[in-house]
Amino acid sequence: MLLRGLPTRTIWPTPEGDAVLTLDQRVLPHRVETVRIATLADAVDAIREMTVRGAPLIGVTAAYGLALAARNDPRDAALEQAARRLEAARPTAVNLAWAVRRTLEHAMARPPGERAAAAWTYAGRMADDDVATNDAIGRHGLELLRGLVGRKRGQTLQVLTHCNAGWLATVDWGTALAPVYRAQTEGLPVHVWVDETRPRNQGASLTAFELREQGIAHTVVADNAGGHLMQSGRVDAVIVGCDRVTAHGDVANKIGTYLKALAAHDNGVPFYVAMPLSTLDRTLADGATEVPIEERSAREVTHLTGRSADGAMVEVQLVPEGTAAANPAFDVTPARLVTALITERGTVPATAQAIATLAE
Ligand code: MRU
Repeated sequence: MLLRGLPTRTIWPTPEGDAVLTLDQRVLPHRVETVRIATLADAVDAIREMTVRGAPLIGVTAAYGLALAARNDPRDAALEQAARRLEAARPTAVNLAWAVRRTLEHAMARPPGERAAAAWTYAGRMADDDVATNDAIGRHGLELLRGLVGRKRGQTLQVLTHCNAGWLATVDWGTALAPVYRAQTEGLPVHVWVDETRPRNQGASLTAFELREQGIAHTVVADNAGGHLMQSGRVDAVIVGCDRVTAHGDVANKIGTYLKALAAHDNGVPFYVAMPLSTLDRTLADGATEVPIEERSAREVTHLTGRSADGAMVEVQLVPEGTAAANPAFDVTPARLVTALITERGTVPATAQAIATLAE
């Protein structure tokens, strides 16, 4: 998508091929800075510290991380250990393990001397595949939006999204925002309600940033505003991304997604989940009890980071000194609240039967 008017991916290899570069999502939207990932440790840190975040992007970053590890030591035990370090960096998004295991398998099928090059090429292909996948999700999602436009009699379509499942969460296009970007290129008038997404504020900082860069009309709202907006008829569809979807269609996504799904259900607003097949975990049935939910630092709840009037990045404390805080980073929306899953192979109901038809 566009960054300062130029088409840009979120991760790309250096011309020398000795590292990958990525945007530092911790300082957006206030500063656009690139970060160099040249070692396994760099990749693990970037994922854990959320320099890169979003399920598909952490998967591709990990694939490159494994390729970089193979340059250092391509033997079986070393690569297996590198894979485990990458997988442990964040627990909820299954794309991470999906990408690591695929890259590992691809590399291990070759003699040690060829593994680093094979894994590097494979990671690049995975990045390209992510772009194609999201492009397809955008086209399928566009059909859903077109279906809603009929009822609007030319008025702007109102989409609500939670967290950031846009370009910045993937290599390009995004998942939940891909249909919105498609709508823009097709001339469909669309406005996005952007949940701020406490505590890390991926909506307020990242989704607002990328929608602004693409020239899409949007309004940031406090997380608690969604129910009211839906009740007063100001949302035509909710589209969110996902970090892990079970074989029965339960959806793990950023904390707060479940509340939006409940409000959408109560108000008859369609609730769509954009789901690349890399996010499907066929080994799990019941999301609420089986999906590992990441617990992040309490400091993300007790403190806020932003830009001060003089342009410096500052952190401020919100709570009384010593206040306890909990920070579950994801929640699970039961399949019964999901209107449909938008995948690269088409839109399907969130049912075990429909999901089973989505071949590997
Ligand atoms: O903690 P984050 O910012 O990595 O969480 C991101 C989300 O929850 C996204 O909605 C999800 O990864 C889908 S991204 C296409």
